[in-house]
Amino acid sequence: MATWSNFNLQNSASPLMEQIIFFHDHTLIILIMITILVGYLMINLFFNKYINRFLLEGQMIELIWTIIPTITLIFIALPSLRLLYLLDELNNPLITLKSIGHQWYWSYEYSDFNNVEFDSYMINYDKTSNNNNFRLLDVDNRIILPMNNQIRIMVTATDVIHSWTIPSLGVKIDANPGRLNQTNLFINRPGIFFGQCSEICGANHSFMPIMIESISIKNFINWINNYS
Ligand code: CUA
Repeated sequence: MATWSNFNLQNSASPLMEQIIFFHDHTLIILIMITILVGYLMINLFFNKYINRFLLEGQMIELIWTIIPTITLIFIALPSLRLLYLLDELNNPLITLKSIGHQWYWSYEYSDFNNVEFDSYMINYDKTSNNNNFRLLDVDNRIILPMNNQIRIMVTATDVIHSWTIPSLGVKIDANPGRLNQTNLFINRPGIFFGQCSEICGANHSFMPIMIESISIKNFINWINNYS
């Protein structure tokens, strides 16, 4: 989860988020190289006295400074495209979670299991008492999901556009009224993972967190069997 002065991306808890971080670092390196090169050239321009009254064109240098950025862009575009298709791939999901956005809470349905469904509201953080809630991130009913399993996520909304976003799992998908969007996730460790709505959806936009509890498949089956 995000903590104070956390400037980077959150640690990944899924293979896809790992790939997203790799791509981010790769692109950032290219960006730094360009910034250094251009910065060096600009500083040099300020501190020299080269003047050429008859300079109108330079075919060769124009060719070079067209080709080199083109190749640089290809080095970003191809991994980007690869990532885009990887994120879209559904690999035989074990279960499906349907997530519905409302003003201002999420509700969830496990349609594979005799319609297990519940609402998930943010719970109040009271710093005077000694409860161990996560401020603005804790909910009354968590999403329970089995780790090391491919999970399909269906996302929709009932009123306005919301966005179901979990940074550590690399999931960010809009919840539109009248549409059903699909994505997938794979959690590779147990734990709790947090997300927030990330589509400006009204006055309490900040107060509809998402909380996933990732457990072993054995405990998940136990939970779903005893769900009342
Ligand atoms: Cu729902 Cu912002």
